[in-house]
Amino acid sequence: MLKIKGLSAAYGEAQVLHEVSLDVNAGEVVALLGRNGMGKTSLVRTAMGLAFPQKTAGEITMGGESLEGLPSYKISQMGIGYVPQGRRLFASLTVLEHLSVLDKGSKRGTEGAWTIDEVFQAFPRLKERIHHKGNQLSGGERQMLAIGRSLMIGPSVLLMDEPTEGLDPVMVGLVEDILKKLKQSGLGILLVEQNLYSALAVADRVFIMETGQLVWSGLPSELLNNEETLHKYLGVH
Ligand SMILES: Nc1ncnc2c1ncn2[C@@H]1O[C@H](COP(=O)(O)OP(=O)(O)OP(=O)(O)O)[C@@H](O)[C@H]1O
Ligand SMILES: [Mg+2]
Repeated sequence: MLKIKGLSAAYGEAQVLHEVSLDVNAGEVVALLGRNGMGKTSLVRTAMGLAFPQKTAGEITMGGESLEGLPSYKISQMGIGYVPQGRRLFASLTVLEHLSVLDKGSKRGTEGAWTIDEVFQAFPRLKERIHHKGNQLSGGERQMLAIGRSLMIGPSVLLMDEPTEGLDPVMVGLVEDILKKLKQSGLGILLVEQNLYSALAVADRVFIMETGQLVWSGLPSELLNNEETLHKYLGVH
């Protein structure tokens, strides 16, 4: 579905991605691991067509269609959902307002688009906080809202940048459950994670990024049994 081939990107003169190739198919979770500052967010941002970093080489296609030169709203209309790192929300908009913006007017990719009610069913806590503003939500609640709104465009592929960052173990478990359900429903997910065990609990395949290059790929079970790789690239002792 989503194919990234030979992708390079730079912030000005500083190259941040070096010929990265990976793909995400329907119904699978692909985990992208790597230590701080290795280029994971840069990869996801480039795929979403965001202004920085700038793509310098390579191609990205979704269902065979090129994303070349498309603005990010067009990319999301092609069925690519995005949950940014740090759950960007609007401080002054309520939970309901965040979701209502997406409830109408989306023309493409609406097949499988979640309704506000479905978001509230999946995350009952959000319903209890329906009139709370973005800056009045806890980190976990913000994460639920960020995931919920990304599903309202009816994505076929979801790019999630560290969705469990800063969450307590109960919330981490909730996010893992949601990911498993989404995967079962046929969604393809690119999951950027620092939380190794959470990623391995849901991933079908794993890639490791080191200074902008993919340096290892394999199955979760292979990674768990590979002490050298865990130590070298993820700092696990
Ligand atoms: N706007 C920017 N301008 C210049 N350099 C940047 C910018 N954003 C990130 N970088 C640099 O690009 C490199 C990769 O950053 P990136 O945010 O992609 O890493 P990451 O793997 O997502 O890290 P983390 O796990 O901490 O989120 C880092 O060296 C970072 O300092
Ligand atoms: Mg990041």
